[in-house]
Amino acid sequence: MKPHKIILAGETGFLGQVLVDYWKDSPIDIVVLSRKPYTSHDRVRYVTWDGKSIGTWADELNEADVLINLAGRTVDCRYTARNKREIIESRTKSTAILGQAIRQTANPPQLWINLSSATIYRHALDRQMDEITGETDSPQAEYRFSQQVCKEWEQAFWESDTPEVRKVALRSSLVLGRDGGVFPVLKRLTRFGLGGQQGHGDQFISWLHKHDFARIIDFLIRNDALDGTFNCTAPCPIRNTEFMTLLRRAFGTPIGLPATRWMLEIGAFLLRTETELVLKSRNVIPRRLQEAGFQFAYPTASEAVAALVK
Ligand SMILES: NC(=O)c1ccc[n+]([C@@H]2O[C@H](COP(=O)([O-])OP(=O)(O)OC[C@H]3O[C@@H](n4cnc5c(N)ncnc54)[C@H](OP(=O)(O)O)[C@@H]3O)[C@@H](O)[C@H]2O)c1
Repeated sequence: MKPHKIILAGETGFLGQVLVDYWKDSPIDIVVLSRKPYTSHDRVRYVTWDGKSIGTWADELNEADVLINLAGRTVDCRYTARNKREIIESRTKSTAILGQAIRQTANPPQLWINLSSATIYRHALDRQMDEITGETDSPQAEYRFSQQVCKEWEQAFWESDTPEVRKVALRSSLVLGRDGGVFPVLKRLTRFGLGGQQGHGDQFISWLHKHDFARIIDFLIRNDALDGTFNCTAPCPIRNTEFMTLLRRAFGTPIGLPATRWMLEIGAFLLRTETELVLKSRNVIPRRLQEAGFQFAYPTASEAVAALVK
């Protein structure tokens, strides 16, 4: 499909900006669903919604080609009971209401891509997780909440009864970009000499260059035969120690103090975040994308980091 109009829910965050930037020179009209009123610019038009109830925003779905839902409260916070509820409900309710809006639309989008996360797979040091053989139950209690988020998010998506619409659940790994997400944080730590291994350092990082994130969405839009669940990640997960070594080399910082688990626990408490974001072993590969013939522009972490540092 060659799209003319794309609806983006949750565009104002990091990944939404990556997509708008990717399509900036294309003739595609983008309509953003945001909880805040923003001024429309170029081919991007902002429409307000609350992410949980039907409003006039739903009219925008009529005659649109693609709906991409990125909406969700950030997971970069302490997992208090309230934050946990908001993390889950911001994803399940926004997904369910988009499904309801599609059902009441005469000419709904042909394709609905809903974000999910590669963290749905278990903590895996032993083997790689793909869409067919990957396991989604962790024996370790500390990793179960984020998996539960993804499961409920995907359940809300697949339970939305939209038979005429091609649907893709996109299990994204950590997207690396200069201007958002985890990369600027790691850059600061590395430059301050804190870019050593985190925890045991043997945990895997599944990652993806931001340009490939946008290219994967574009690939899925253009290939009408593709639907279902896709891992959205580069083909070479890398161990934490190796990744931090790459960063130190790239930033020319020979010293990188390691952070043990208890140091990370204190740091995470002070920064109001959770250690899971760095300690969980995300060992995920994009089997279905590769079988469909997708070619990564940045297949290895060294190429991706070099491009981001340049
Ligand atoms: N960044 C990554 O590496 C990565 C990896 C895997 C999965 N993901 C998932 O992909 C999605 C986008 O990631 P991101 O990094 O762009 O996130 P982000 O920067 O935190 O942006 C999230 C977007 O969600 C919307 N939002 C926040 N709270 C909401 C709520 N309570 N109800 C409805 N909408 C809400 C915000 O839009 P408004 O404020 O304009 O309404 C914002 O634009 C997230 O769901 C994230 O979990 C991200």
